[in-house]
Amino acid sequence: MFEKVLTKHVDPPKSRKIDQYEKQGGYQAWQKVVKEMDPEKVIEIVKASNLRGRGGAGFPAGMKWGFVPKNTEKPHYLLVNADESEPGTFKDRLLMDAVPHMVIEGAMIGAFAIRSDISYIYIRGEFVKEARILEEALQEAYQKGYLGKNIFGSGYNLDMYVHRGAGAYICGEETGLIESLEGKRGWPRIKPPFPAIEGAFQCPTIVNNVETLACVPHIIERGPDWFKAIGPESGPGPKLYCLSGHVKKPGVYELPMGVSLRKLIYEYGGGILNDKKLKAVIPGGSSVPVLTADEIDVNMDFDSLAKVGSMLGSAGVIVMDEDTDMVDAILNLARFYRHESCGQCTPCREGTTWAEKLIRKIKSGEGTMKDIDLLGETANHINFRTICPLGDAAAMPIQSFLKKFRHEFEAYVKKEVA
Ligand SMILES: Cc1cc2nc3c(=O)[nH]c(=O)nc-3n(C[C@H](O)[C@H](O)[C@H](O)COP(=O)(O)O)c2cc1C
Ligand code: SF4
Repeated sequence: MFEKVLTKHVDPPKSRKIDQYEKQGGYQAWQKVVKEMDPEKVIEIVKASNLRGRGGAGFPAGMKWGFVPKNTEKPHYLLVNADESEPGTFKDRLLMDAVPHMVIEGAMIGAFAIRSDISYIYIRGEFVKEARILEEALQEAYQKGYLGKNIFGSGYNLDMYVHRGAGAYICGEETGLIESLEGKRGWPRIKPPFPAIEGAFQCPTIVNNVETLACVPHIIERGPDWFKAIGPESGPGPKLYCLSGHVKKPGVYELPMGVSLRKLIYEYGGGILNDKKLKAVIPGGSSVPVLTADEIDVNMDFDSLAKVGSMLGSAGVIVMDEDTDMVDAILNLARFYRHESCGQCTPCREGTTWAEKLIRKIKSGEGTMKDIDLLGETANHINFRTICPLGDAAAMPIQSFLKKFRHEFEAYVKKEVA
């Protein structure tokens, strides 16, 4: 029987308070880290846990922390990516709203591990309430001496700030986020250099997702073997799945990594709204390839979804019933990516614009079979040719919709759809 970890004590507004968090064992891990460990030890534990990033790419957290140079005079920065703008994704928001101290404690441990004495929580501009909650939680943490100068007499100093974004999806991409934090336009940077070597203010920087960091205090407290035993060993742990669309019970579900997608939709989500048939599912937020109804016998983890040609991404599961117009659905996404493209590279700026135009043309009944091919070619020309992965994120859904639901595009061309 799976015991919830991240959302076990979710009960706002009570669970937002530091006293409540401490009663449930909160900040024990932080004390252990500062009083008994050195940064190498923390990195070793997190590496051993196989914790993989929950922000989309699934990169191993401990390994990433290990990339930060040890012998540098420059300051180091730990940035919490709280931008959460991926359509279909609303899990970090829950953590920040209900258990902000868990996020803060994870960030403190991450900062300690990379020898950072300044950390910023970069939060999506629209999350006004969550930003206020985090500010209040930080004040509580300072009052208790968990943050500030000479923490527990260890000589270690750590300051943490909330930095609000202004509502741009691209500022969730780690280098766009860094540029924005520096006060500039959120234009992603060419890598290398990677942020671990040269990030914020040209200094070594680690960017981690909210949920990734929220796992860390539990790993310190309960040990890497406990964590590794939850779900597949190559990418284990408790996982927050965001279920939305045509399901009876949408919401955030905490389950082990690797839960079956079918089970998530039909057992936890209560099945399809109005007992309709399932047509398609986007399993990892809007940026990943779509699955058809007969592809849902797959486990929701990094490797299993990759094997069926999709991705876990942000675990935003968007469910579409039999009545969903797939051309309409992809138009909605294409519009989003065209709007959110920062415009810096030509394939993404022009490609997303043309993709939206072509889908609109097809949907209006004015399209030709050649336009469907052209749409595919446009997507192919964006993929892997851009500075940041937003280009791929825009292209992959189009490619998969065309591959799996081409007949719906053709039906518009043949004027079979009114
Ligand atoms: C367009 C775009 C938007 C992104 N938005 C977010 C976001 O809102 N939150 C997030 O944690 N990661 C986001 N990412 C992924 C980050 O670039 C980065 O991989 C992540 O914050 C690393 O944290 P993790 O290793 O803990 O997953 C986005 C990536 C792209 C390309
Ligand atoms: S891929 Fe798109 S969003 Fe990313 S840098 Fe290029 S233009 Fe900007």
